[in-house]
Amino acid sequence: MPEYDPLADLYDLEYDHDYDLPFWLSVAARERAPIVEWGAGTGRLSEPLSEARFEVTAVEVSGEMVRRGREKGGGVEWVCGDMRDVRLGRRYGLAICAFNSFLCLTSPEAALAFLRNAHAHLSPYGLLGIEVSAFSPEELSGPPGGPQLRHDLTRELPRGVLERFSASSYDAASQLLSMRLFYELYDASGTLESKRAHGLEIRVTSRDELSLMLRLAGFSLEGVYGGFEGEPFTAESGHLVVLARPCGREPAAPGGGASG
Ligand SMILES: C[S@@+](CC[C@H](N)C(=O)[O-])C[C@H]1O[C@@H](n2cnc3c(N)ncnc32)[C@H](O)[C@@H]1O
Repeated sequence: MPEYDPLADLYDLEYDHDYDLPFWLSVAARERAPIVEWGAGTGRLSEPLSEARFEVTAVEVSGEMVRRGREKGGGVEWVCGDMRDVRLGRRYGLAICAFNSFLCLTSPEAALAFLRNAHAHLSPYGLLGIEVSAFSPEELSGPPGGPQLRHDLTRELPRGVLERFSASSYDAASQLLSMRLFYELYDASGTLESKRAHGLEIRVTSRDELSLMLRLAGFSLEGVYGGFEGEPFTAESGHLVVLARPCGREPAAPGGGASG
């Protein structure tokens, strides 16, 4: 079962931010081309891009996330598929992989498979934009004595409150960050209605690893930023935003053979 299926009903409650939307809208306005969003969730970005009159295809591996995205009833074309190997049968001028969807690819092989597939779906002058969280060493190392439960968020609901807690552990060897998420739903009187726990795993990447993987997949870098205002990427950045275009050569063969 895709990791996000059991989280789909909570996704829009948890992630209601749109601080990144103006950036992607301005990139879309500059590129003026059909868009594919890889790992689109429930359409947090795809829906407003479509509302802004861009043609958007949203690819998402979780059937439950796709169902919720479709329910929004916008003009997005939804495809339930794996961004590593889905074939959409056409090319796009802009590809977006935002808000840690890239980190859901939990091995370098999976990440490269996605980048090669994204390359195969881009027009020769198309643009790929990837945005991931940039974690500080403190965030990754965690408190002494092992993972601790922390309170992440409170969301007021029409008839109650959602609380989320989590505990994370990071394995520096594999770059895997394992998170255990705990959800508590309270009714309007403050009585606990239900609770559930869920595991998520992401693979943390770095500026230079991502840049190298993009080159291996046949891209050349156009920009590397530390946020959505075009600021430089530094050790203090909370985000890593990379823009890349196909460099006109075929990507390196999956077996590692060079393609000149
Ligand atoms: C953190 S969410 C981000 C969703 C969306 N990009 C956003 O900005 O709200 C990551 C999403 O990537 C999806 N995903 C993970 N692996 C995927 C894969 N191999 N192919 C397609 N979607 C994937 C997950 O199911 C999840 O919906």
